[in-house]
Amino acid sequence: MKTASKRKIQIIVDVLMTAVLLVLMSYSIAGELIHEILGISLFILFTAHHIFSLNLTKALFKGKITPTKIIKIICDILMAIFMLIMLLSALSVSKYVFAFLGINFLSALARNAHTFGAYWLFALISIHIGFHLDFMLAKPMKNKKKKTVVLLTVSALFLSGLAVFFKEGIYNYMFLINKFVFFDTRSGILLFILKYISIMCMFSIFGLALLKFTKIKKGEK
Ligand code: HEM
Ligand code: HEM
Repeated sequence: MKTASKRKIQIIVDVLMTAVLLVLMSYSIAGELIHEILGISLFILFTAHHIFSLNLTKALFKGKITPTKIIKIICDILMAIFMLIMLLSALSVSKYVFAFLGINFLSALARNAHTFGAYWLFALISIHIGFHLDFMLAKPMKNKKKKTVVLLTVSALFLSGLAVFFKEGIYNYMFLINKFVFFDTRSGILLFILKYISIMCMFSIFGLALLKFTKIKKGEK
């Protein structure tokens, strides 16, 4: 496949994965059957994403090991583990697509693993997206005027995401303080997705900052 068309498909897969993830987080607001179908779609997209990023994954293990490579590898491994947790727990919690399997044992554990896994996976994928935002901001950061605008926008996005994160009590679900997620079905899916985009931006900016920090420490560009 030509590099340009491969790149286009790669971008489509990445955008789809992000969109599917945001809808998945809304669980009952989007609809239970839609949730299960989208859940399986994310696994298919995840496989495609890995095939397209294979060269980058191989590059992570080639040459000198740097702090940047280490945090990327850790994040990649954790994401893969959490994807596996989501798939295994889905086999038990499923009410539609996997119901025919009749897997009912350890159902309480599977439910908790599904909730715990979903929020950590969401945070990790957002951080991972942040690791790849570097190239997008490289050009405007070279211009003095644009740099101020970028820094102000990034700070505002980070702070508003952090506020939504605390207001929605996401930490309660990440640390299983609250095992039952509250979904406000009255406010609709659009508002829900906007809130989660904001939290996603917060984690992505954290990822970007983490990457910058390891590069500064190592003197990398
Ligand atoms: C990586 C993909 C997935 C993500 C990010 C995800 C995310 C979520 C979230 C945030 C909830 C709400 C948590 C709660 O109410 O405690 C949930 C619940 C649920 N999900 Fe998923 N999910 C994924 C894949 C799947 C798949 C593949 C299936 C089934 C085929 C599935 C079936 C369910 C069911 C049945 C519930 C309700 C559990 C219960 O409270 O009884 N999910 N999921
Ligand atoms: C569980 C989900 C995911 C896993 C396990 C995963 C894993 C990986 C791996 C292993 C790489 C190559 C090595 C690296 O740079 O870290 C990569 C690259 C990349 N990922 Fe993901 N990823 C996931 C989801 C996403 C999502 C949702 C996006 C959405 C934007 C995304 C965007 C990217 C980008 C832009 C690259 C660089 C590809 C390139 O420029 O060729 N990833 N991912």
